[in-house]
Amino acid sequence: MKVRHIAIDGVASSGKTTVGKILSKKLNYEFIDSGLFYRFATYRVIELNKDPLLGMAKLSKDKYKEALSGISIDFKDGKLYVDGLEFPLHLLRQQMVDELVSPVSEDASIRESITSILRNIASNKNVVMVGRDIGSVVLKDAFLKVFLTATLEERAKRRFKELIANGVETTFSKVYENLKLRDMVDSSRSIAPLIVPKDAYVIDTTDKTVEEVIELILTFMKAKEYALQHSKNNI
Ligand code: C5P
Repeated sequence: MKVRHIAIDGVASSGKTTVGKILSKKLNYEFIDSGLFYRFATYRVIELNKDPLLGMAKLSKDKYKEALSGISIDFKDGKLYVDGLEFPLHLLRQQMVDELVSPVSEDASIRESITSILRNIASNKNVVMVGRDIGSVVLKDAFLKVFLTATLEERAKRRFKELIANGVETTFSKVYENLKLRDMVDSSRSIAPLIVPKDAYVIDTTDKTVEEVIELILTFMKAKEYALQHSKNNI
């Protein structure tokens, strides 16, 4: 049987991860959070740029190529594995990673490596993959493409609540500005920018519960199945 891919893209903190995780459980598909791969590359770039005496030195683009070379990365059951070992995800949610992940994600060689890893992981299984360029680049032939949006104010509220719950010291305005900047950089980069794929269903999650968003996606899936069946019957 042909494997099925569901691509969920959208702006930062629009609910992709929460929705993607629950949806994948309901469907018994594998869940893949592509953002964690870009966060991991950023973490590596930061580590490679650290001056042993001065701490963090100026970010050098020379280190971008090194960031993922000779390393194997995998994602299974919500966990990221680097060279076979589970990587602590809280390190990828640090403010410094939040601030640098969009510029690092603009790099062509980093995007190329991560796109190929993601395609490899999804090649022989049913997956729900979330990110920014999944429906437009990584899984262009996905069975279903969804794009999530929400107002910046609502997204900043969600992200701020999540960070505070995780014990991160921050302010609402810092979170708001970071999301605004990331959306801007992600949408305007020349390679694989954040766009709404032309065949995607767009859902504004501002006033919707997670359950409502999932119900909508399942309805879109049924509509797709029906259209597919119908077109087969007409051949
Ligand atoms: O999804 P999350 O907010 O964790 O993603 C962090 C960053 O990784 C995004 O702001 C974006 O710069 C980058 N990213 C990307 N392409 C993806 C997933 C994430 O460029 N498919």
